[in-house]
Amino acid sequence: MWEPVLNDADFGFIAALLKERSGYVIGPDKLYLLETRLSAIMRENGYRDLAALIANIRLSRSEPLIVAVVEAMTTNETSFFRDHGPFTTFRNSVLPAVLEQRAAHRHLRIWSAACSTGQEPYSLAMILREHQAALQGWRIDIVATDICRRVLARAEAGTYSTFEVQRGMPIQMLVKYFDQIGDTWRVREELRRMVDFRPCNLLTDLSAFGTFDVVFCRNVLIYFDQPTKREVLASIARRMTPDGFLMLGGAESAFGITDAFGDIPGLRGVYRRTAGKVNPLPAFNKSTNPADDRRTANSGRI
Ligand SMILES: C[S@@+](CC[C@H](N)C(=O)[O-])C[C@H]1O[C@@H](n2cnc3c(N)ncnc32)[C@H](O)[C@@H]1O
Repeated sequence: MWEPVLNDADFGFIAALLKERSGYVIGPDKLYLLETRLSAIMRENGYRDLAALIANIRLSRSEPLIVAVVEAMTTNETSFFRDHGPFTTFRNSVLPAVLEQRAAHRHLRIWSAACSTGQEPYSLAMILREHQAALQGWRIDIVATDICRRVLARAEAGTYSTFEVQRGMPIQMLVKYFDQIGDTWRVREELRRMVDFRPCNLLTDLSAFGTFDVVFCRNVLIYFDQPTKREVLASIARRMTPDGFLMLGGAESAFGITDAFGDIPGLRGVYRRTAGKVNPLPAFNKSTNPADDRRTANSGRI
């Protein structure tokens, strides 16, 4: 007779644990994900099946085991310049605006808040590097965080396969900012030095990270339920300057979830902090057309 892989109580326990620890919401239709993503932990620790692993967690409450399970369940899909549009918007619109806003202090702080294996913060570092002449005398901090230490270790090492560097990265950037080592590609030190990788769970107190002018929090809210999204967005808003910019993923929105952020007409996926209303914007280039790069470059602003 067919028996379910997990009984309702075990499934309820593991689902509640994941939601509490990482915000990850899992329904019974995702049982196969539990089985596939936790199979290495089962194998390494000698549990015959998922039920045995969960029984052990329930009994022992072993913190290392819980952390390993939470980390194994994260989805770490990412790529360099993922979706292109947000990076074009950052380069053409957000960056000129924040440079104007911070001209007096010449200090810019950027946060990649769920950075996975590092492609997102390194993409930002490449864009900033391309503008280094205009950024002379500026202090630029790129802080990149993730809940999963395994991906952070990879991000810090900055070594990628040919497949990973070929996904979305212009060849000129590859040649300029990577060294080929055997069949892998390593981010050059000048870029690695620009990014400060640190562990961080978005569900916890974020005050240690200071405040940021630009936050990339892309493709992580999709895994959370509505109350958790609201909580995380409020928490991120507290870590941003009042005139800061938030960039969300293509399938994510702050609209209808929180009034801590307002969208910017003409700029998809970009939000500004509000105090219940959208702050006025400085005039800046709203185009996301790469052909307009020339105009930006010629403007002498960056
Ligand atoms: C799909 S990746 C997105 C990576 C990158 N931002 C992008 O858009 O390409 C989602 C990342 O969010 C991280 N994550 C999941 N829950 C988190 C949490 N509660 N706090 C911080 N990071 C979390 C995962 O470990 C994973 O690396």
